[in-house]
Amino acid sequence: MKVTIDGQEIEVEAGTTILQAARMIGGESVPPAMCYYSKLKGSGGKCRCCLVEVAKGSDADPRPMPKLMASCVTGCMDGMEINSKNSDRVREARESVTEFLLINHPLDCPVCDQAGECDLQNLSFEHGKSKTRFIEEKRTFEPEDIGPNIQLHMNRCILCQRCVQVADQLTDNRVHGVMDRGDHANISTCISKAIDNEFSGNMIDVCPVGALTDKTFRFKSRVWFNKPYNAHRECTTPGCCGKTTVWMFGNEIQRVTGRKDEYHEVEEFICNSCRFDHKEVSDWVIEGPREFEKDSVINQNNYTQKLETVNINTEEGILKGRLEDRKKISMNEIDYDEKIDGEKLNSDK
Ligand code: SF4
Ligand code: FES
Repeated sequence: MKVTIDGQEIEVEAGTTILQAARMIGGESVPPAMCYYSKLKGSGGKCRCCLVEVAKGSDADPRPMPKLMASCVTGCMDGMEINSKNSDRVREARESVTEFLLINHPLDCPVCDQAGECDLQNLSFEHGKSKTRFIEEKRTFEPEDIGPNIQLHMNRCILCQRCVQVADQLTDNRVHGVMDRGDHANISTCISKAIDNEFSGNMIDVCPVGALTDKTFRFKSRVWFNKPYNAHRECTTPGCCGKTTVWMFGNEIQRVTGRKDEYHEVEEFICNSCRFDHKEVSDWVIEGPREFEKDSVINQNNYTQKLETVNINTEEGILKGRLEDRKKISMNEIDYDEKIDGEKLNSDK
């Protein structure tokens, strides 16, 4: 069936969601997603970041949908017409959702390990406001130690429930998610139960904010100072692909993560042994620099990007600089009679 998103038509299979169709088109029409995660069953429908406007329901029933729809959980219909980046209503809704998510989220990006690869940071950059209307106190939680590998910072959690789904779908015991309700909602018990499992580290990768970070990497470096390389090893943990991204600072592997695509989602999940216990270069077969599909702070000036538009002209630049230096050093062009506010520049006063 055919759907049109921001004027771009695409053919999709029945059962495809609007978000998936938008990702097939790519570019700026792709709605942001904080809770949907393509590798986790049943994810989505919680954060409302991915709202879109359905201007035409389908060929069979062309009426527009009155409310904005969450694109990650709304299926495409034949002849559907959708507005994403082209709609003022959508832009306004994304701004409001961003403002809502930031109500309780601490603005501690300068000290947060997720900075540089945080989905909320990117969302705020695109849709955030520079002022807050929130005058109440932010919600805070007591720090909770959930083991040697994962740092839980509940104050930063946006309750997307991706980590709950990792616990549910990748670990042995079914664990439940959000404890308490409303302002008190938190997910601590679920994580405490799940941390012993060999795949619990994947919660770090799926967390869109800095609520779950890697204790073995904590405060070691800003992510943009690390160089990411694709690497693999013969992993014996059942279910682990052994294919990772190792983040290096010089010759030191500071962090190991799953390989993430342009939507910041891992290609395959990895075990805790690969993630936390193998930090020696000799543990890995390094395949080469990791290519980033999406622009972000961590791939600025990355040499794996295409550089056709960059024209440095080093020789010309140096010679021009020398000429200007000579002029300044010789002081030939200084006007000693120049006046500032009626006073001579070289007056004795
Ligand atoms: S800890 Fe992270 S992954 Fe889990 S619900 Fe909170 S924001 Fe989502
Ligand atoms: S990504 Fe669709 S509601 Fe969160």
